[in-house]
Amino acid sequence: MLQVKSDPAGKTELGPETVRLTFLPSGQSVEFEAGKLPYQEHGKPQSILDVAMNFGVHLEHACGGNCACTTCHVVVKKGGELLSECSEEEADRLDTAADLQLNSRLGCCAIIEKPGEVVVEIPSWNRNYICEGGASTL
Ligand code: FES
Repeated sequence: MLQVKSDPAGKTELGPETVRLTFLPSGQSVEFEAGKLPYQEHGKPQSILDVAMNFGVHLEHACGGNCACTTCHVVVKKGGELLSECSEEEADRLDTAADLQLNSRLGCCAIIEKPGEVVVEIPSWNRNYICEGGASTL
């Protein structure tokens, strides 16, 4: 498993092909070369969920990354332009998400397509759900 960076996000310069993905509110930050991560079999390759799984960052994914639930809901705070466009399937699924925001995405669908800095927040209802160890429901 790849290592989570201990440096706070934004403190060091990124290489031209490097992606830095930061998860709020924990501030866990991971870096990798764009397009070079091994696929972890959940969500689309190099999606936010796939990156999280590569680095052992917990992002709930009740449906296994198949765009069939909303537990991988994240709110993009920075770097939305580096992500794949929201498909109709993802948008339809997002419409059923709790606390939907303009920059909401599904972690299993949003692919990091370009190098640069991406910051996402895991909504509090999802974090609480994880802390309570609740069973996944669709
Ligand atoms: S994991 Fe179910 S929609 Fe993303």
